Amino acid sequence: MYTHEDLARLQQQSLKMQGWIRQQTFSPQMEKTLRRFSSWEVGELIFKVNQSTLRGRLAADPSLPQGQVEEDGRQRWYSLQEINELRRRLTVNRRSLMPPRPAGKRAIRAAIANFKGGAGKSTVALHFAHAAALDGYRVLCVDFDPQATLSHSMGITDVAEEYTVWGVMARDLIHETERMNANTQGAETGAALPQRRLPASVTGMGLRDLRVSDFIKPTSWPTIDLLPSCANAAFVEFASAQYRHLNPEWSFFAAVSRYLDAIPDDAYDMIIFDCPPAIGYQSMNAVFAADVLYIPSGPGYWEYDSTTSFIGQLGEALEDLSHFDGIVPAGTLQLPKAFLDVRFLLTRFEANNELHRAMQSAFSKVFGDRLAANPIEMTRAVEQSGRFLSSIYEIDYREMTRETWRRARTSFDQAYEEFRGNLIAAWDKLEADQ
Ligand SMILES: Nc1ncnc2c1ncn2[C@@H]1O[C@H](COP(=O)(O)OP(=O)(O)O)[C@@H](O)[C@H]1O
Ligand SMILES: [Mg+2]
Repeated sequence: MYTHEDLARLQQQSLKMQGWIRQQTFSPQMEKTLRRFSSWEVGELIFKVNQSTLRGRLAADPSLPQGQVEEDGRQRWYSLQEINELRRRLTVNRRSLMPPRPAGKRAIRAAIANFKGGAGKSTVALHFAHAAALDGYRVLCVDFDPQATLSHSMGITDVAEEYTVWGVMARDLIHETERMNANTQGAETGAALPQRRLPASVTGMGLRDLRVSDFIKPTSWPTIDLLPSCANAAFVEFASAQYRHLNPEWSFFAAVSRYLDAIPDDAYDMIIFDCPPAIGYQSMNAVFAADVLYIPSGPGYWEYDSTTSFIGQLGEALEDLSHFDGIVPAGTLQLPKAFLDVRFLLTRFEANNELHRAMQSAFSKVFGDRLAANPIEMTRAVEQSGRFLSSIYEIDYREMTRETWRRARTSFDQAYEEFRGNLIAAWDKLEADQ
């Protein structure tokens, strides 16, 4: 017979192994670091300008960052900070190298969501974040999944649950309850309404006075920050039900949205959410805060099946929320929730697999232009780099066959470029005061 004590013992054993794997994966200090990028990558893949043009410009102005020469001596290698300085200072054929961003608007928010574990959500979120950062955008990632794949991939471990989406939600409950209490006191209705009280287990966690930035961690990428998750944040799903009971008028699903609204508009360009493989309090917060919904799916029949039930259940959950009648200040919650764009994205796609092609045409028949034109290919490079918790962008191309690296990178680049086009179109539609 096995009880919770046996499970706890098994977990202890497993945690020891986890520490060992982490040590093997990252540098001895267990810190993830970002590599430099070669002049070939900077010219051809990042700026998309002729390499000799770039070399000429760098030679003409010694005050520009000049990178580092490695032992083989042929290439210069640039840090992302240096690449970003070049981007700010260079124009090529009167073209700015800065990525487009609509003026006066907040960051655009995209949720990568689906039911199914293994659909490729975390892989897509990681690669889109890295591609966007190489493209010159400042990115904030929010890990809504207590499995914390994205956090671990970004080198962030040992996170306390107060500093995850769970903490954001509990802090919001405290703030919202205070606001509601202040409103009832101030109301000139005569009889004072009863004050809502939260137990010390909620108010005593020290969350009330945390600042917005206290939840955000820097990563090894200078232009990517992360609001991380951790295994204990799974508890939020239980806690949130209790929280709703404590204050039934609390719009629990809008907690993260309110939190993100408090970030200065120009602090980030893109905010990317990695979602848990379930519909629950955390994923409803993700979906509710998102402007754009990206739904990755594997190209198999069962994955098609589960994607179908995902959109069905998500639709029902959003319809439920649209009847929410708690106390919110006028104009702060727009119900029903409306996305600026919804897309499906095939992942782990093999172009020479007949079943995959058949499923692609089924997806395309059903979802029409909601299906992203560029699927993400199944690649050994990602399988391998996934094992080492790195994206294809982080892997130095000299560590594998150049062709394997290039193919994987091209597949993610194309999917990212389409993603970026969709985000920019959605950004244009976003109201400036939203
Ligand atoms: N394009 C791909 N090619 C090869 N392996 C992939 C690809 N996308 C995802 N994988 C692998 O599939 C597994 C599940 O992917 P993951 O992104 O963690 O899914 P999810 O977040 O939806 O659960 C991981 O081991 C990952 O390395
Ligand atoms: Mg995941």
